[in-house]
Amino acid sequence: MEAGRISIGSTAQYFITGATGLIGAECVYHILSHDSRAKVDLLVRAKNQQAAELRINRLFRTLFPTEIGYARMRPRARVLCGDIRHPKLGLSEALWLHCTRHTHYIIHAAAITDWEAPKAYFSAANVKGVQHMLTFARACSSLRRMLHLSSAYVCGERSGIIEPGDIDTEVPVSDWYQASKRSGEQLVLKHRKTLPIVIARPTHVVGNSDNGRTHRYHGVYRLGEWLYQGERVVLPVTEPNCFDVVPVDWAVNLMIRLLHLPQAEGRCFHLALGERAYSATQVCRIIQKSMDKLELDYKPIWQVAPRWFNIIHGPLMNRERAKEIRQMERYYGLERYFDASSTFRITGEDRHKLPGLESYCHKLFAYALKRRWEKLQSKGGSLTRA
Ligand SMILES: NC(=O)c1ccc[n+]([C@@H]2O[C@H](COP(=O)([O-])OP(=O)(O)OC[C@H]3O[C@@H](n4cnc5c(N)ncnc54)[C@H](OP(=O)(O)O)[C@@H]3O)[C@@H](O)[C@H]2O)c1
Repeated sequence: MEAGRISIGSTAQYFITGATGLIGAECVYHILSHDSRAKVDLLVRAKNQQAAELRINRLFRTLFPTEIGYARMRPRARVLCGDIRHPKLGLSEALWLHCTRHTHYIIHAAAITDWEAPKAYFSAANVKGVQHMLTFARACSSLRRMLHLSSAYVCGERSGIIEPGDIDTEVPVSDWYQASKRSGEQLVLKHRKTLPIVIARPTHVVGNSDNGRTHRYHGVYRLGEWLYQGERVVLPVTEPNCFDVVPVDWAVNLMIRLLHLPQAEGRCFHLALGERAYSATQVCRIIQKSMDKLELDYKPIWQVAPRWFNIIHGPLMNRERAKEIRQMERYYGLERYFDASSTFRITGEDRHKLPGLESYCHKLFAYALKRRWEKLQSKGGSLTRA
């Protein structure tokens, strides 16, 4: 079977949350491009139906930029103005009934992912929202499978080899995001014997490795953005550490396969480089080479021991920036690796075909440059978060 091609006998109706985000958008692209009979219902936050339609029209213009592509794909998506924080997902009774009768596959990619968000936002979307999605799944009379997007970082501050499916609640988490994703996954796990569920746990997901397309600029993008703005970036680094990063096209291809593989049911899978993960030093090198490739000026990144960062560099920096760097360090600063061997085994995917960051980072940056960094610069280099 061709990689990523979905082989099902009849029209498949998908219900997707988080379509305006990085992973959800790429799911919409993948499904509509690989299965000509698939249709998608997209649950979108907006003040009203018209505003929700506008958001999805804009998304489809990005995903399918040619007139013909847009005209072919857009009618296959239905926009549902709603919110996972609300009972029945904020849908009218009629829409709820319609969706629960017709949905075959659910992809739950909506979540609050911004580290700066207040605690209440995380619990409302990432825990209560998951509960509402499970209620929806249970009400779906034609449901074949639900894919829940969790995170590799539900492991919190654990080091060593992280097995998929392990959740040790004794291990502390670094932030409210991790805490809420952990609680959300625990809720899903309680239902996996009675609902057809599969859980995907990605590590750091970045844009499309082929064309750089992204809907979110976090992690490596932030480092590139600061270099572009002429800043001296200083990173606290302890060796060894683990910088695991995967491109969204690869992650989504595997997610959709897991959604359809019968033997994946009830199980949890890492979407990760695993033992091929980079060190922070390697990632810094790749980032700098990508800046070189795009002929952008920058000051080389300094890597310092966390102690020096805390005593000298952090206090000299803008407070928000130092906070964000410390936050990032909690994700890459531990000696661990995420075991993705079951993902490769079950999907038959060759782990060596997983594109390495060095082969596509310049494409991510070229996209970010055009869509975000140049705009930020022309607005006076505003440092608002992505
Ligand atoms: N990207 C990564 O590196 C990564 C790594 C591990 C796990 N994950 C997980 O993968 C999933 C998708 O991540 P992502 O990177 O695509 O996130 P993202 O780009 O931040 O997108 C989040 C999506 O969720 C939607 N959303 C948030 N709150 C909602 C609500 N109350 N009701 C309905 N929709 C809501 C957002 O809608 P708006 O556009 O309206 O805000 C957006 O479409 C999340 O569960 C995340 O935890 C991501």
